[in-house]
Amino acid sequence: MQLTKHKFNKLVKFARESPPSLDSLALAIYQNVSRKSRNMDITYTSEINDIDWNEVSSIFGTVDWGDRPADLVESAFKKSSFVRFAFDQGKLIGFGRTVDDGEFYGWVVDLIIKPEYQGNGIGTHIVKALEKDLESYVTTMLTAAPGKSGFYEKLGWVKQTASYIWPRTKGQSQSFT
Ligand SMILES: CC(C)(COP(=O)(O)OP(=O)(O)OC[C@H]1O[C@@H](n2cnc3c(N)ncnc32)[C@H](O)[C@@H]1OP(=O)(O)O)[C@@H](O)C(=O)NCCC(=O)NCCS
Repeated sequence: MQLTKHKFNKLVKFARESPPSLDSLALAIYQNVSRKSRNMDITYTSEINDIDWNEVSSIFGTVDWGDRPADLVESAFKKSSFVRFAFDQGKLIGFGRTVDDGEFYGWVVDLIIKPEYQGNGIGTHIVKALEKDLESYVTTMLTAAPGKSGFYEKLGWVKQTASYIWPRTKGQSQSFT
């Protein structure tokens, strides 16, 4: 991943506004250097048969979406028409999938990139691949997690104001943006 001038300027602006701690700076440098020295080469697949579902479950554990046991995750992903998994040298580092009827309506769901790999264009790659998979559908939607709208808007997704959720939890009965 190249550090473009645009990204560099954004980083400088961010660091000026909220100076990072020495620890987080050291971690960022370590992650960047170690990735470069390993010549990070991300590969993507929609092949589902060799997936380690415990790994998928543990990546779900990096976000606050509730427990996702491996057997249930496997069953859910196998019902998706489209899936994408990202690997770094054979190690699963992220994924995304669709929930769809195979013809008309498709939702992009469960997009997660491992925290230490975020910000490298991997989420973008997966969303674009799923967008293409759903190209012939009449409606393609998603629900952005809190704070993630900017990511999707950058990719050209348009915010709707008439989507509804049937609240299954107290949290879901609040409107969030
Ligand atoms: C949201 C997520 C999938 C983004 O994936 P990623 O690989 O880190 O994102 P990318 O590197 O492709 O980012 C693409 C662009 O979106 C921007 N972006 C990323 N997260 C953003 C956010 N929360 N708000 C605004 N912009 C964001 C990046 O800065 C980048 O911009 P640039 O091209 O100008 O540099 C990832 O952060 C993640 O897995 N988060 C935790 C799980 C989650 O919330 N998933 C979303 C469910 S709806």
